[in-house]
Parts: sequence; C-alpha cells; structure tokens
Amino acid sequence: MKVTIFGSGYVGLVTGTCLAEVGNDVLCVDVDERKINMLNNGESPIYEPGLDDLIARNKAEGRLRFTTDIAEGVGHGLFQFIAVGTPPDEDGSADLQYVLSVARSIGEHMDDYTVVIDKSTVPVGTADRVKSAINEELEKRALTSSLEFDVVSNPEFLKEGAAIDDFMKPERIIVGTDNPRTTELIRALYSPFNRSHDRLIAMDIRSAELTKYASNAMLATKISFMNELANLAERLDADIEKVRIGMGSDPRIGYHFIYPGCGYGGSCFPKDVQALERTAREVDYDARLLNAVEAVNYRQKQVLVDKIHNHFEGKLKGLTFAVWGLAFKPNTDDMREAPSRTLMEALWKAGASVQAYDPEAMGEARRLYSERPDLELVDDPMSALKGADALVVVTEWPKFRSPDFDEIKRNLNTPLIFDGRNLYDPAQMKDAGIAYYAIGRGLK
Ligand code: UDX
Repeated sequence: MKVTIFGSGYVGLVTGTCLAEVGNDVLCVDVDERKINMLNNGESPIYEPGLDDLIARNKAEGRLRFTTDIAEGVGHGLFQFIAVGTPPDEDGSADLQYVLSVARSIGEHMDDYTVVIDKSTVPVGTADRVKSAINEELEKRALTSSLEFDVVSNPEFLKEGAAIDDFMKPERIIVGTDNPRTTELIRALYSPFNRSHDRLIAMDIRSAELTKYASNAMLATKISFMNELANLAERLDADIEKVRIGMGSDPRIGYHFIYPGCGYGGSCFPKDVQALERTAREVDYDARLLNAVEAVNYRQKQVLVDKIHNHFEGKLKGLTFAVWGLAFKPNTDDMREAPSRTLMEALWKAGASVQAYDPEAMGEARRLYSERPDLELVDDPMSALKGADALVVVTEWPKFRSPDFDEIKRNLNTPLIFDGRNLYDPAQMKDAGIAYYAIGRGLK
C-alpha cells in the first residue's frame, strides 16, 4: 500500500520505517532540508535503538524514500499520516499550526480519495479542524463534491528507546473514525502488526483523541502519586522501595510506573498533562487532579536540589558536582524537560560547577549548553567524579546500577551520593562509608 508520512521526527520516522518494513511503499516528507538530506545519506537524525538499520535496509530495498516536496508527498499515498510536532504554546495548549498547514497542503494537492490520519498527539476536536482545513482548500479548487477524504485519529503509543518494538508489537491500535469504511482500510494497513489477536479498538474520533491524553495523564499520575508518597515516607522514616513492592503486588495497582524518582520528563508527559489541563479550562472544568499531578512533578524536579542545599547548608559556591545521566530516561539522547536540566541549572545558579556523563546525550548536552564554562562533559562515569564534592545520579542507565563503590570513593573529594533514581541500597552505602541520599529512603 502507498503511504505518505508528513513529519520525519520521532513518531513519523518510526511509523514510516515500520510500515515500510512490512512491505508498504512509504514516502516521508519533511520541510527541514537538513533532516531529509541526512536521511537520504543514510543517517538518522534521532537516536532510537534499531532504527538506523531498519531505515538503511528499507531505503536500500526501495520501500522507503524521503523528500521535501509536499506536492509529491500528497500525490503518493492513499494513507497520509500527519506526524508533525505540536509544541506547547505559552499557555500550555498544543500549537496546531504545523498540523493544520499539512492539512491545507493535502487539500491543495490531493487528486484522489485519501485517508488522512492524525498521528500526532492533538487536542480533542483537532480532526474536525483538519477536516475543515482540507475542505477549505478543496472549495478553492471547486472540488468539494467530487473529491472524497476521511480523517482518522490514530494516536501513537511509542516509548522512546523501545519505539520499534512498540510499533511492531502494539498493545493497542486505537482508530477513531466516523466512517466504517475507513476502519477497514486502517485494519488492512495494520494487519501485519495485528496478528495473534485483534488489538484494533475502533471508536469515535473525539474519544480516540482523548484516549491518548488520558493514557499519558494516567501514567503521569501514577508517577506523581509515588513521588508524593516517597516524600511522605521519608518524613515518616519509612522506605518507599519497600512500600512500592508491597503496593505493586496488588494486581489492581501493578508494578509498572510506580517508581519514585526526581520527576518525569520527556516530550510527552509534561506537554500532554499541560495540554489536557488547558483543554479542561476551555470547557470550564476545574481538573484538580491533573493540576496536582503537574504541580507535584514540578516540585519533584527540585527535590535533589533541595537535598543538596540542605546537606551543604546552602554553601554551594565553588563546589563541583558529578552528574550521572542527562537524558530524561535511559536508552535515549532526549533531554527535553529532563530533570538533569533543572538540577544543573540550579547548581550553576548557586555558583557550583558540573562534571557530567551520559551514555547517549552528550551531543545534545553540548548543543544545549555549549556556552557554559561551569559544565564539563566527560567521556566516562569515573572521570566525572575526579575532584567532585558529590555524585548526583539523575538517569537510571543500566551501567550506573552496579558501580565500583571503592573507585567512587577514591575519586570523589568526599564519599557522598545523591541518588534521584533509588539505584543503591542504603544499608550497603552505610557499610561502605558513603553518605547516601535517595528518594523516599536513605538520609534525610
Ligand atoms: C511516554 C509513554 O510511556 C508512551 O506510551 C507515550 O506514547 C509517550 O510518552 P516516553 O516519554 O518515551 O513515553 O517515556 P516513559 O518511558 O513513559 O517515561 C516518562 C518519564 O517518566 C521518564 O522521565 C521516566 O524516568 C519517568 N518515570 C517512568 C518515573 O519517574 N517513574 C516510573 O515509574 C516510570
């Protein structure tokens, strides 16, 4: 089948590449010439495990192509995916200018029946706006009655770092449409990924749009809930890790997404919770729980900073901190809304400097903070510790889980760890003579 993907960012590239992998003829369109040139030269503009090889193979076998030519894109696919960015406005709502501009281009150039698929995370009601934008362009061409199209909401549920697997083996394929014919077309497109049992859930468009926000808001809620409990556990001399294990064994609660930490980051949770709050305001609903989820996360990103301030009684000027982990989570180079940024920016503001290491995000850190004399990016975890006054663990990369604590002690000025991900055992740290602060356990 012929597929066009507008937007060669994270979602668009993974979607296009995986659809090509199962035999479709895919054309990816992006207005960013640099990105398209990179892709045409066989380089991926993003880091995602497994993606480079998949792009290379499908490109070589002629099923995956890249262009900046929008008209060519519209002329290509029966299926036209809109997978462009929806950055937050100043007020937290999703900015739809890129989505609507693709819709207008489709209306301007289409010359056959087209299924337009909203893949980007967009507020409830966007499909209607996409429909109107296409219709306006068709009207200009006097084609409204002769050219048909359908708009579908098909939100993505890809986790960075596991996106290929999530696409190839989806837990659910949400299809929002008001036309049963379209559901069947989408079912055919997704059939290679929908084999062992039917995972396609069809519903009306608005419910599909809301399902995406609801899922991310629920996950963010679980995290903020656990972070709140961790802060409470700490004050009650309880150990949140024991509490977590005790809670998770109830299948109604489950073990997933109840890890306390130094706050959630990334391109989805912060943005989507804010956008849903904004949507609630627009319909005059006071979404108290959502507001609290966001407020708790905002505070949680400060928790490590507060612990450091308390330990050093506010005297951070001239100190050096080793930071392990810059990406917002392991297996990605993404630093969007990463807790590491809140931490480092607070340390710099207080006059401290940072020696940081991340297995993948060093390039991104260099791009974001190229001008900072108080940031040194080093090539391995132990180099970050040399001459530092404390180690701060921010991202739970596997290689940080079982370090050589003797070597850590040898390298640090003082044996002191602030752990934002609860990777180590407080009793073991005590035995090793390391002062250990964590989240909801360890020193206070
Ligand atoms: C998320 C959703 O999981 C995915 O379904 C959606 O399509 C996009 O948003 P992603 O942003 O890639 O995916 O990251 P995810 O793995 O969900 O982690 C988000 C953040 O929550 C990270 O900062 C992570 O460290 C944090 N987190 C996660 C916790 O603090 N505790 C947990 O128990 C789980």
